[in-house]
Amino acid sequence: MEVIVCSAYQEMSVQAAHEVSKVLNTKPNAVLGLATGSTPLGLYKELVRLHKEEGLDFSQVTTFNLDEYVGLPDTHPQSYHYFMKQNFFQHINIPPQNVHIPSGTTRNHLAFCAWYERRITECGGIDLQLLGIGSDGHIAFNEPGSSLGSRTRIKTLAKETIQDNARFFEKKQDVPIYAITMGVGTILEARKLLLLASGKSKAAAVAAAIEGPVTSMITASALQLHPNSMIFMDKEAASQLKMRDYYQWIQDNKPGAPQPEP
Ligand code: GLP
Repeated sequence: MEVIVCSAYQEMSVQAAHEVSKVLNTKPNAVLGLATGSTPLGLYKELVRLHKEEGLDFSQVTTFNLDEYVGLPDTHPQSYHYFMKQNFFQHINIPPQNVHIPSGTTRNHLAFCAWYERRITECGGIDLQLLGIGSDGHIAFNEPGSSLGSRTRIKTLAKETIQDNARFFEKKQDVPIYAITMGVGTILEARKLLLLASGKSKAAAVAAAIEGPVTSMITASALQLHPNSMIFMDKEAASQLKMRDYYQWIQDNKPGAPQPEP
């Protein structure tokens, strides 16, 4: 796990977007796993800027979103379909048929989730998966207690998550209590994971995920099992990390590229 503490939200967003663009520059037809929430907004903004001003190309990219609320149609302003369209897809050149987001209105959850998993495999697997973190330590909607081997499925949201996400809805009662979400096992199969965290409200979850034990009670701790994961955060989100000086020391002393043998 590479832990990168940035001075502020904007720097975090730009650095993380740079990681995404590096993948697209080496593999133009990469498969990206995408996340929603307020945290990745700055990253999407920077990717849109890179597309408009520096020609970052999405014409061959395929995407899979992590999750969607059950019961919300694509046109609902709080649906993740709507979020992705407004904040990202409508500003870049991705072909609509390359975009995958779990359906909030499917009547057959089991069949839909099995299809979603199959599509990921058919597309060659996810090259880079973006992630946020919930204040209860969840990734996607894998709430505390989710199996670390879980796959895409319907999940009941934790009360804490409903409370956290109520700010986007008119009233708390409007927040759906179910979601379709990629599982922790699905996420761990991505070739690279990139988790973003911002603000004091995430500090405890971030510390537990990075420095606590691997546990299904904090599903973000599963990143400790992944061979290629990066965690970007601002100072506030890093405020409860005990080993912060060491993470900085690592960033300041990165080994150079391997030299050819004489
Ligand atoms: C939701 C999403 C998560 C996201 C989390 C944090 O629960 N399902 O994928 O990481 O919110 O959101 P925010 O970035 O708004 O704090």
